[in-house]
This record gives sequence, C-alpha cells and structure tokens, in this order.
Amino acid sequence: MTAPPNDCNPNLVKIDLDALTHNARALSALVSETTQLMPVVKSDAYGHGLLEVSRRLKNEDNIWGLGISTISEAYTLRRAGIDGRLFLLSGCFPGEEDAVMELGLTVGVVSVQMLNDLQQAAFGKSVQIPIHVKVDTGMGRYGLEPEDALQVVSERKKWPDLLFQGLYTHMPVADQRDDPFNLRQIQSFESLIRSMRLCGWEPEYIHMANSAGLVNFPQARFNLARPGIGIYGHVPGQKSSASPELKPVLSFESRIASVRAMGAGTLIGYGRMGRLDKNSLVAVVPAGYDDGYMRSLSNRGKILVKGVQCNILGTICMKAFMVDVSAVPDVAVGDRVVMIGRSGECSITADELASRAGTISYELMCLIGSRNRRIYLPVQ
Ligand SMILES: Cc1ncc(COP(=O)(O)O)c(C=O)c1O
Repeated sequence: MTAPPNDCNPNLVKIDLDALTHNARALSALVSETTQLMPVVKSDAYGHGLLEVSRRLKNEDNIWGLGISTISEAYTLRRAGIDGRLFLLSGCFPGEEDAVMELGLTVGVVSVQMLNDLQQAAFGKSVQIPIHVKVDTGMGRYGLEPEDALQVVSERKKWPDLLFQGLYTHMPVADQRDDPFNLRQIQSFESLIRSMRLCGWEPEYIHMANSAGLVNFPQARFNLARPGIGIYGHVPGQKSSASPELKPVLSFESRIASVRAMGAGTLIGYGRMGRLDKNSLVAVVPAGYDDGYMRSLSNRGKILVKGVQCNILGTICMKAFMVDVSAVPDVAVGDRVVMIGRSGECSITADELASRAGTISYELMCLIGSRNRRIYLPVQ
C-alpha cells in the first residue's frame, strides 16, 4: 500500500512566520531601548508550533529569551539547538532541579520551598541557578505575597547558590485599560521594588507586562516584558491609538466536501437545530470540534468561501459542519473555505470567531493549532 499523501487531510493551519517577525518588531518598536522582550512560547507557542516559532524569534534583536511553562518544552528546545535563555514562567516541580541545571534554565521562583529545593540541588555544583522572584500583586495565582518576597530578598544570602537576578509579577486585567486596578497594581509593585532596593537588592531584570500590559501601560514595561498573544498578532481588549499594527499569524482553512440543494423548511444536523428559511445550497465542511472548531459555534459561526461570508447551519459535528453557501458563485466540492483568515476582501479574525464561540482567541488558537496539520509560510 502506498503511504497517504501528506496533504490528504483537508484541514490546514497556516502559520505566517513573516507576520510573527513583524509582530515581534512592532512590539519591540513600542518599548524604549532599555526594555527587552521575552516572547511567551508555552503551550506549543499558543498552537503555532514551539520549535518553528522559537527558531524564528531567537535571532531577532531585542529578544531577552523565551518564556516556557514546562521542563519538557525546555528539552524540546535544547534538543533542537535553541541555546538562548529559557525562562520557566511558573517555576518547576520538586525533583526537576537537576534538569533545570542540565538545561541551563532561568527559574521564576514562586515559593520559599522552591528556593530551598533549588539551593539544595545547586549546592556544591559550582553553578549558580539564575532565578527571578515572582510576587503575586493581584493575579491570585503563582507567586509570593509581597511581604514574603521582601523577606526572601532581605535574607537572600540563605540561598548562596542561586543568582537573584530578577523580580516579576503578572497583570490580571491589563486588557481592561480603564480598570483602576491596573494603576494600583503598578504602584504597589513599584513600592515593593523601592523597599527591595532599601534592602540592598537591585534586580537586574524587572518585569510585569503581558501583551496588553505592554501596549496599554508604558509604566509596566520596566526593562523586560513578556508578550504572548501579541507576538501571534492579537492584543486583547479595546484597540487604542497606542496599539501597534499587528498581523495575525495563524489562519485555518478547509475544503467543501459536499454541496446540495435543499428546500425551505429543511432541518439540519444533530438535534435538527438548523433551519432553512428558503431554498438553499448547503455545503458540508469536514472540520468539527475534534479539529478545534468548537461546538459552541453551532448556528453562530461564519466562514468565508470565495470572499463571501456564509452562515453555519445547525450543530457542529465531530468532523463536519454544514453551511449555507447559496450566495457563493459557482460553488463546488473541493473549494477552499476560510474559518480564520482572509478571503478576497473579507476576513475572520481569531478574536471574532472566539467571541462567537463564547471564548477567547487564546483558547481557540491553542485548540485549532495543536489539532491540525500546520504548514509554515513562507515555504522554504
Ligand atoms: C506569567 C505570564 N506572563 C506572560 C504571559 C503572556 O500573556 P499574553 O499572552 O496575554 O501576552 C502569560 C500568559 O499566560 C503568563 O502566564
């Protein structure tokens, strides 16, 4: 039996690496010369491909290092020859300290226990593990309470084999520019930094901003920022005059597998939840929730066929959905359809689709990117 051709699956995610570079440069242009970027490439680079994204970003100017969430991501990157700084955004588990040293990682430390475990592992090894102290200033997730972080810093000689290199925190509502919590959070972080300086510690790196923080709050940029979604072409929240022009990196396409004329009143799909108001042409697209095209898009999603916007009919199935293609000229089996991306003069962004699905572009891109064949543009 011959092997199936590589492209026999009709669903395709396209990753535009030039758009990625554009976004990294656009975000970099926004910050001052003293601020570097740490693109976040966790979760398979938000579904865009850990290795391909990291390879493209590592040679860009002004990239301090890459933000990751697991040791296994670090292994993948090191094995592929990515030798720059890798930052464990939420630290490591007990037992992973040797891997941290072997892989040469920088650790975001979120507890005293983690400091102790790292110190014990590094003791006598003639290496200092670089760490950044994570403080929780309002996210309610990882990190030390500010007063505990201050105490740790004042007692930092207890951990002589750790290099206290940085201090950071995370912003929970930076996408909501008008939320007064943002400025309060920045001020309380600044006040903590002042107290730490009084204890004689000057962190070499200070960071706070995710993509929305970087765009919306210049005061939150310090000398390092950690953009994730912005690198992939989206900034959550309302656009402002400060928003850079970013280009979506991911698009998602499929092909029409069937087209049929159906009469007014026909009920469509599982639960018979779709209904034709008039005689229509109904196409089947072989993408479904198994491919990350979420079931919550039932009767709500829209796709583009030859530049025409078409409505989803009925419930999304595991491997298919139905769509009204009556307005598409000469529509036929095999025609390419766009679920995220551009077709003719029209486009559907991941943000738009996510809002129709009742979620955020992050979730949609992670799902779609990791569950479909990806190709990288420009083709080498
Ligand atoms: C600690 C930390 N920093 C930065 C980011 C990047 O955030 P965004 O994708 O909103 O830019 C994340 C993402 O979740 C994160 O967890």
